[in-house]
Amino acid sequence: MNTRDLLENTAARSASYLASMDRRAVASTSEAIARLKELEIPLPNHSTSPEQVLALLDEVGSPATSATAGSRYFGFVIGGSLPAALAANWLAGAWDQNAGSSAISPVAGRLEEVALRWLLEIFGLPADCGGGFVTGGTMANFTALAAARRAVLQRVGWDVDSQGLFGAPLITVVVGDEVHPTLLKSLGLLGLGRDRVLRVPCDGQGRMRADALPKLTLPCIVCMQAGNVNTGSFDPAADVITQAHDAGAWVHVDGAFGLWAKAAPSLTNLVAGFEKADSWATDAHKWLNVPYDCGIALVRDATALRQAMAVTAAYLPQEDSRTPSYYTPELSRRARCGSLGGTLFARAQRIGRID
Ligand SMILES: Cc1ncc(COP(=O)(O)O)c(C=O)c1O
Repeated sequence: MNTRDLLENTAARSASYLASMDRRAVASTSEAIARLKELEIPLPNHSTSPEQVLALLDEVGSPATSATAGSRYFGFVIGGSLPAALAANWLAGAWDQNAGSSAISPVAGRLEEVALRWLLEIFGLPADCGGGFVTGGTMANFTALAAARRAVLQRVGWDVDSQGLFGAPLITVVVGDEVHPTLLKSLGLLGLGRDRVLRVPCDGQGRMRADALPKLTLPCIVCMQAGNVNTGSFDPAADVITQAHDAGAWVHVDGAFGLWAKAAPSLTNLVAGFEKADSWATDAHKWLNVPYDCGIALVRDATALRQAMAVTAAYLPQEDSRTPSYYTPELSRRARCGSLGGTLFARAQRIGRID
């Protein structure tokens, strides 16, 4: 089978899979899960034809999926991708670009610039914010918090890039008591500790209580939540951000799904005030219905993000055009902005009124 036939076969199988979404059970059946044994073959010494591999994946693998791509899946805050995003994602797969460099992939670099500009407009953030396209909310929080860590330590004369955290001034990290566990993981990865955080008591809806904020000693990072995954509630942005900024703290917002409320006029009141923060994390693979994996880290001070993420942080070369890998932990990565761009294009007419 030549490449064209193989890809057409893949498209046909994918279309049949999606067409089955409304007929099949949302969860995979026990029979489908039992068939996964067929994948447990010893590492072969011989090659298998691509169409056989595809047939095995489709015949054994497809029934053992959860029907998250369909309209009857209501678990968590995840959901299927829009047709435009899926199609753009396929094309991005065929491109097989290394999106870490605009020189290697001019189109990937340009798509990031355009998508970033549009996203900042949607979220009502300054056009000169820095942004990085990462795998998901966990990595978006990690990336933005790395910029925060660097910046708050720099303010007290400590260079975390060169010295690490050994002997560094202690950073006060504040979270709401119903912080998403992955944000604590990000803090742990950054050496800020999962358990040494100060937890602010929450109200009955899981909102951080602004009247219960501890004394904020510098250097300090306050992590807020725009969208509690259990209740959908939003932390009181105006009150907390004012107090935190008055004390000189950096405010980070985990808006994995909730930040998108900004695109729905009937919901913008929920996110009012969060635009005053210093950094934000969100997922396009949640409410925007872009294929996995597509997280976005946004930082008001683009230089802070760039200095935290660039390979050569201390001696940043001049950028003629934006170098994507200066804004993310990874150097090489796929052109995920292809699918994000597909969705934004498709939704452009409606983005101001997605409700
Ligand atoms: C509020 C919040 N933060 C962070 C995450 C982690 O996002 P991801 O699964 O994309 O890493 C989630 C995921 O549900 C979330 O709801």
